[in-house]
Amino acid sequence: MDMEKKYEEVKEILKKENQEQLLIRYNKLNELQKEELLNQILKIDFKQMNKLYEGTKTKKDFKDTKVEPLEYIDKQKITEEKRKQYEQEGIKILKEGKYAVVTMAGGQGTRLGHTGPKGTFELEIGNGQKKPLFTLLSNTIKEANEKYNVHIPWYIMTSTENNCQTVNFFKRHNYFNMGENNIIFFKQNEIPMVDENGKILVNEEGLVKEAADGHGGIFEALRKEGILEDMKKRGIEWIFIAGVDNVLAKMIDPLLNGIAIEKKCLAAGKSVVKSNPKERVGVFCKKNNKPSVIEYTEITDEMAEKVDENGELLYGESHILCNLFNIKAVEEITKNTLPYHMAFKKAKYIDSNGVIVVPNEPNAYKFEAFLFDAFETLDNMAIMRVKREEEFAPVKNAEGVDSPETASKLYIDYIKNRK
Ligand code: UTP
Repeated sequence: MDMEKKYEEVKEILKKENQEQLLIRYNKLNELQKEELLNQILKIDFKQMNKLYEGTKTKKDFKDTKVEPLEYIDKQKITEEKRKQYEQEGIKILKEGKYAVVTMAGGQGTRLGHTGPKGTFELEIGNGQKKPLFTLLSNTIKEANEKYNVHIPWYIMTSTENNCQTVNFFKRHNYFNMGENNIIFFKQNEIPMVDENGKILVNEEGLVKEAADGHGGIFEALRKEGILEDMKKRGIEWIFIAGVDNVLAKMIDPLLNGIAIEKKCLAAGKSVVKSNPKERVGVFCKKNNKPSVIEYTEITDEMAEKVDENGELLYGESHILCNLFNIKAVEEITKNTLPYHMAFKKAKYIDSNGVIVVPNEPNAYKFEAFLFDAFETLDNMAIMRVKREEEFAPVKNAEGVDSPETASKLYIDYIKNRK
């Protein structure tokens, strides 16, 4: 279709949808950008956007949801004999080349405030040394490759915003000598941001302001980007999925794999015990008999404080975004789309007078799918409680809790204690 025709078509759609502000900078764009903007607009599902915007006005109600604790296995309490048995099963999967790791690195990392992809953030690891998060994660995979004499494929989810920078970073580091073929990048979907009146925002370049659609976007991306097909070709059966920002993520853990197999579960997750009932983390639970996560914003004080006969929190298994899926489970999950949740965020944009607005307060809705919403597709999940100091050192905030400072300390202590 020629540009002129495309432009007329887009104008017509925007008029009908009452979103004409999206062309505010059109005449100032170069030819390539003009085309990009028109394509962006033609891709927008306005029906979905309207529904999402309407959803921002209603509060979710959990009255009819039956919430119960979800069973878990405490790693510390597994007998030596059982541990060996589980591990053997898990190691078999690794040695047969049926295991892959996926790192979700498509987030914006707004709280950390690092310029560039979060995985390129350099963490202090002692003796005055600093290493990027991607390097630390690559070390974990390389260690396992050596230990089990395998080449575990490493899939990395990026976003339109950070894909180029991420790929270039890996090129510059010679793919950490893991072989270019063993590192596969794929992009997640993006979704436009809207203001409080439901108007889709225009970014500083004059294009549609879009943002990655949450870590739950991984499932759609795995299918749409041909990654599931690639995995099948390589004979992958089990996929470990974790974020880029937990430097202690133990992404290759035969024990977890063995437990999933023994319990006949197509998915498994790791938990760490909540440090106190008020900690702002989601916890594993069952919702209407299906595995799920209840967020800290949803849980009542009474539930959060409830303990069992041993004095342990009934809802104390924090979800740390370290999960294992059988490829069959992922295929099942991708048959449906996950719901979007909205977050009210600060977003720079160009207003209808063509002026750049830099807000001090949240001004726009961002829509995100959450990975754990997929758990409800499954009948059951095997949960293993692990030690926080061994497997959970998140880098989320610029300072304070879950910051580079806390993660660095956890990392250094872990390495010291391991020796
Ligand atoms: P968070 O939800 O902590 O978000 O992501 P974030 O993007 O890192 O940081 P904020 O909220 O903007 O400060 C947890 C993990 O999920 C990935 C992140 O990269 C991180 O590894 N993620 C998140 C994605 O891959 N895509 C997304 O759309 C969101």
